[in-house]
Amino acid sequence: MDRRKVVCSGIAVLDRNYDLAALPFRPGKVIARGYREVGGGMAATAAVAISRLGGEVVWCGRLGRDAVGETLLAMLRRHGVDTRGATVTEGARSPTSGILVDAEGERILAVFSGERLPEDAPLDPAWLNGAGAVLGDPRWITGAERLFAAAAARGIPRVLDAEISPEGVLARLVPQADHVVFSEHGLASFAGTAEPEAGLARVAPGLGAVAAVTLGARGSLWWLGGRIVAVPAPGIAARDTTGCGDVFHGAFALRLAEGADVLDAARFATATAALKAMNGEGWDGMPDRAAVAAMLARMP
Ligand SMILES: Nc1ncnc2c1ncn2[C@@H]1O[C@H](COP(=O)(O)OP(=O)(O)O)[C@@H](O)[C@H]1O
Ligand SMILES: [Mg+2]
Repeated sequence: MDRRKVVCSGIAVLDRNYDLAALPFRPGKVIARGYREVGGGMAATAAVAISRLGGEVVWCGRLGRDAVGETLLAMLRRHGVDTRGATVTEGARSPTSGILVDAEGERILAVFSGERLPEDAPLDPAWLNGAGAVLGDPRWITGAERLFAAAAARGIPRVLDAEISPEGVLARLVPQADHVVFSEHGLASFAGTAEPEAGLARVAPGLGAVAAVTLGARGSLWWLGGRIVAVPAPGIAARDTTGCGDVFHGAFALRLAEGADVLDAARFATATAALKAMNGEGWDGMPDRAAVAAMLARMP
């Protein structure tokens, strides 16, 4: 098959991980046994997953002209992501997080979502030329809105990673996508109930879109043809589930771009995200197509 193209808009973050023997629960100094810089952020992680799966992918997002931004751009490019959609702004600061990790993988996370990143950064509709799907995240609202508007005008499927967001953000973006894939917390806040089946049944009928919710090791639920369809996740030994949701959305969008139907794309995303959970290793641990095919073959 030709390489299919997806355009992703949203956040990139540089995670700075410090490995400690134990997490410090009072002020003081501790010596890290290891240090890793790992790429993260919903849209950027999805883009890296798509590239590794053999898709062509443009990332649109905002960075500051700083060392973190340079590192992230270099990492995205190294992973085969087209960064023509990146807006790098003088005087702005790129998103980064400091993460203390203990020997069991428990963590303390401090997230800095960036500063003076321009909400109005450009998103050129020409970047969508030849695209078969788009994916927006709610961390850059105007970017997702512009992406969805340009995609709607061309009849291209629009996937929203409906993660938990500040009040009002999902209400704005959900109606603009035609495939709304919530995280468990995203759906709980949007639907006003923590029970995923009830939440999906409450909000999905009014959306006029495919709606779904991901539930970690429990897989995902899909609202299709007026009823809920469960797509279970394969039982695996998870090493690190960071970014699994992002990878899931990227793989789902790529399969839609390839012309697959929703359930085929959901199963493909489920296999890809499970492999990501097994592999760990941040953006370097993305599964390729052959690994996903092998995982799909052992799923029911
Ligand atoms: N431990 C796991 N085992 C197998 N699959 C997993 C595991 N954790 C996540 N996944 C897959 O990744 C998808 C997204 O994970 P989830 O934790 O729901 O996303 P998020 O991190 O955005 O909250 C799940 O629906 C599932 O298919
Ligand atoms: Mg998520």
